[in-house]
Amino acid sequence: MTMLPAVKQRLYEDLADQIDGLLAGEVDLTANLANAAAAIYHALPSLNWAGFYLLRGPLLVLGPFQGKPACVRIPVGTGVCGSAAMRRQSVLVPDVHAFPGHIACDPASQAELVVPLIRDDTLIGVLDLDSPVVARFDAQDQAGCEALAMIIVRHLVLAPPA
Ligand code: SME
Repeated sequence: MTMLPAVKQRLYEDLADQIDGLLAGEVDLTANLANAAAAIYHALPSLNWAGFYLLRGPLLVLGPFQGKPACVRIPVGTGVCGSAAMRRQSVLVPDVHAFPGHIACDPASQAELVVPLIRDDTLIGVLDLDSPVVARFDAQDQAGCEALAMIIVRHLVLAPPA
């Protein structure tokens, strides 16, 4: 994405403040993830999908998102999302066609950034961003989205284990 670093930094700072405010005081997990997905999707340019997958046993299960309908269940270790979940590290993919095992939910997607949601060493799920532009995401986007993930995770009230 051609955007001056200072402009991009400001964009992520503003988005972080917006999400922090949107989620403050709300305890419903679905509502908070839905608002976070919507805020990200509409704030960051050149996205065709933004949303969450939540860890359910050995699988990532589709959560709140903006964009076209997506695959519902992704085994940890599979695809870009499953790789980020398994490694517990962000995965930045400039060209999804060069990523072995990439799961194509929308053929328009060309680049992808997946950031794990981790609290107290526990993996909660992942934040997934797709773009129709090759090499849309860079290290600054990764750092910005990792900061957003930290804010989102801080606001999540998780159901106690069944
Ligand atoms: N491309 C992802 C699947 C999820 S969609 O992009 C929404 C992957 O390879 O894990």
